[in-house]
Amino acid sequence: MLYIGVDLGTSAVKLLLMEASGEIKNIVSKEYPLSFPKPGWSEQNPEDWWEQTKAGIKELISGFDASQVAGISFGGQMHGLVILDENDKVIRPAILWNDGRTVKECDYLNNEIGKDKLSEYTANISFTGFTAPKILWVKENEPDNFARIKKIMLPKDYIAYKLSGVHCTDVSDASGMLLFDVKNRTWSEEMCRICDVKSEQLPRIFESYEKVGNVLPDVASELGISADCLVAAGAGDNAAAAVGTGTVGNGACNISLGTSGTIFISSDKFGVDENNALHSFDHADGSFHLMGCMLSAASCNKWWMEEILKTEDFAGEQKGIDDLGKNHVFFLPYLMGERSPNNDPNARGTFIGMTMDTSRQDMTQAVLEGVAFALRDSLEVARSLGIDIKKTRICGGGAKSPLWKKMIANIMNLDVEVIKSEEGPALGGAMLAAVAKGEYDSVKAAADAIVEVVDTVHPEAELVARYEERYQKFKTIYPALKSVYAQIV
Ligand code: XUL
Repeated sequence: MLYIGVDLGTSAVKLLLMEASGEIKNIVSKEYPLSFPKPGWSEQNPEDWWEQTKAGIKELISGFDASQVAGISFGGQMHGLVILDENDKVIRPAILWNDGRTVKECDYLNNEIGKDKLSEYTANISFTGFTAPKILWVKENEPDNFARIKKIMLPKDYIAYKLSGVHCTDVSDASGMLLFDVKNRTWSEEMCRICDVKSEQLPRIFESYEKVGNVLPDVASELGISADCLVAAGAGDNAAAAVGTGTVGNGACNISLGTSGTIFISSDKFGVDENNALHSFDHADGSFHLMGCMLSAASCNKWWMEEILKTEDFAGEQKGIDDLGKNHVFFLPYLMGERSPNNDPNARGTFIGMTMDTSRQDMTQAVLEGVAFALRDSLEVARSLGIDIKKTRICGGGAKSPLWKKMIANIMNLDVEVIKSEEGPALGGAMLAAVAKGEYDSVKAAADAIVEVVDTVHPEAELVARYEERYQKFKTIYPALKSVYAQIV
């Protein structure tokens, strides 16, 4: 049997075809536009996701026996608000996870409703990218659209709906809506009341590895697959990536260097960071996780390479960067503001420390290091909670760079385990579909059978010490600039 994993990302949808054994047979990627209608806003058209997913599936399975495709599931960009009207038509473009327009709504939720209450109801507080403040924003700014809302869902859930006709979501992705009681894996009645959301407007909740339905007959015939093919709920991209890298079980850690950068810590038990700097969400394997999310990670390097240096030769620009831990230039990677742990939509990307002898290479190095330093900020929060992490797995586009992996290992003082395939969310999605079909008894069993560590990057004592000194300096820059950022927006 064959399984399709759909990674509905921010710049593209990546599709992966996997045999039940875990062998990857094909990978296809299809891009779609991302629009920034105002500074700090970020939107996409759900119809683009659907059209490119369909085109991608057709391309993915061409040349294979399509009748063998037994399941489809997802890893999807989290938190995006998708709203449908009574005819299940999309009402307005989706407002994405890295959109910062809801500062006022977050102030209302965090300060008037209160962080304690939010944390009690949902295990989290409000961040601008989360879904609930966006619902309040639509209510305030687009009342006609608000009045037409029949269903609220997350990005990958729209694809699951188009494939199966079922309005569904999964526990890991629902966790990021701020409408969900993470501890009890159910909608929070209190939060729904606060946000004026009715229970019939919400999708049905599934565990990530559960079947939600089959592919609708007309969709199956358009795609050329069997109508017996199941659709499993899938997961938010970080939980799906954790499945795809085998990050299951207590204390397992994964770093994702995608458009966003995340550090994901799997946990058997429900737990909340008392300062809510880390998110407390459900995991796709039936357990829980803590997560720090920075809004711009590999996207900082992409911006620096493509928009500023005007090059596509990412590897070439990194060649010759070997003087690690001594860079006098720092880069603060806050190109879209920042979520974890600073929670500051006003923060901005910043180079600091240049002199007349600063080179292009120093600045490229600073961009890569700045992302790793900012991820370390979240790791330090986890360490302050008593969580002892010695090693991590890694995935995402940035994980292709040996230099970046070396920086992560030494800046964070972690063994970095490299997986055979760095296609975290797409592979995780395919694995969840295989579990839903019964190929494996559990997500853990699938991860044990499928995920293979092929290399480990070890930290080196001398580099760790040098980077420690640099990190201590990095840490002082954001607090010094915080009030400046607030003035310049
Ligand atoms: C996680 C988050 C991002 C998106 C990116 O909280 O906002 O990682 O899921 O796709």
